Amino acid sequence: MILSIRDLYVNYGKLEVLKGVSLEVEEGKISLLLGANGSGKSTMLKTISGLISPVGGSIWFEDRRIDKLPTVDRLRAGLAHMPEGKRLFTEMSVKENLLIGAYSRKDKKEIDKSIETMYELFPILRERQKERSDKMSGGEQQMLAFARALMIKPKLLLMDEPAQGLSPVLVSQVADTVTKIAKTGTTILIVEHNLRLGLSIADTVFVLENGKIAFQAKSTDLSQIEYAKKIYLGG
Ligand SMILES: Nc1ncnc2c1ncn2[C@@H]1O[C@H](COP(=O)(O)OP(=O)(O)OP(=O)(O)O)[C@@H](O)[C@H]1O
Ligand SMILES: [Mg+2]
Repeated sequence: MILSIRDLYVNYGKLEVLKGVSLEVEEGKISLLLGANGSGKSTMLKTISGLISPVGGSIWFEDRRIDKLPTVDRLRAGLAHMPEGKRLFTEMSVKENLLIGAYSRKDKKEIDKSIETMYELFPILRERQKERSDKMSGGEQQMLAFARALMIKPKLLLMDEPAQGLSPVLVSQVADTVTKIAKTGTTILIVEHNLRLGLSIADTVFVLENGKIAFQAKSTDLSQIEYAKKIYLGG
């Protein structure tokens, strides 16, 4: 397992959000985290990347305990986080945004190679490399957000609702992109509200409820997925 979460507890003051979450993310696979609004999905990703400290439990990345490491050390170890919203540097160009994504890396030649890889993966970014990122459409900006996150060559990429606010056509484009990224060998843990999108790409599905993982199944186990839809996902 590339990531193991064991009995994780997270509070905001008196509010207890995660109350003993345990889950295992399999290397090279896409894991989907579902749950109602406010159930703690974003909190969980933030805790994995180090933006929030847990009050109990442990997080293991490639068999190394990381829950006390600063975010930048987790990044260097290969753990990247695409937060909710695109969070691009809107006044900077497309290329500058990509370079910022590589800030924890030093070798210029290798960075140039990664930029070239991103241009191959997302040709629109090559065309627009000198333009300000806020001049691009929502879907193009989302491509840039993906590419920026990939610039550190993460082993594990945490994605928080990457299709949020996009039109149906772009949602299916995001699905293709996530699958493409997984095929390059990057493991993915994705939070996604769009059930159809989520189930169409995921290998494993987790449902967070009342601060715990209430359900988990392989996405190929259709009877389990149907059951989860009825019990946890409103139909
Ligand atoms: N910084 C914060 N301070 C206090 N409470 C917070 C903070 N961030 C989140 N919360 C609360 O913690 C709970 C979990 O929030 P979180 O954002 O993790 O939910 P979520 O599952 O991502 O929801 P959504 O599907 O709406 O994105 C919610 O009740 C939320 O109001
Ligand atoms: Mg959220």
